[in-house]
Amino acid sequence: MNLPNLHRNLWLHVGAALLLALAAMLLIRMHYANGATPAAESVQAGRKLAEAWCSPCHAIDAGGARAQTTTAPDFAAVANMPSATELSLKVFLQSSHPTMPNVILTTEQRGDLVNYILSLKRI
Ligand code: HEC
Repeated sequence: MNLPNLHRNLWLHVGAALLLALAAMLLIRMHYANGATPAAESVQAGRKLAEAWCSPCHAIDAGGARAQTTTAPDFAAVANMPSATELSLKVFLQSSHPTMPNVILTTEQRGDLVNYILSLKRI
């Protein structure tokens, strides 16, 4: 066997391993798409999203401070409004609001954020 051939084989192996990993990831995703995402994981993911996208304006956890002074309500306060339900929050996040940037969210991200906000409900 000469050297160039050996290299080709190596890359083939790497490629096959990558493909396998991708297929495994796809399978896991399909699994979640069928049923509900486990609640705890969804809440975790929602918290990460909130940290990244919402924390500039909203205090995203119960004791948290926000980065800017805005009129945006704390997520804990939002969660504890009697009117806050999964549906009302999802609808809110799907409609555009003059005071809030229109963050483009996938259905899954919206669900995660709503699960996270509702996890702050005390009542
Ligand atoms: C640029 C600042 C800003 C960012 C970033 C922002 N918001 Fe807001 N948000 C606001 C303001 C201001 C209000 C109050 C709106 C009002 O009362 O009209 C608000 C209100 C809300 C409400 C309350 C709805 C209600 O029924 O009173 C929710 C829920 C909400 N935001 C979710 C989010 C989520 C989730 C994100 C991140 C994806 C986010 N916001 C990012 C400024 C922001």
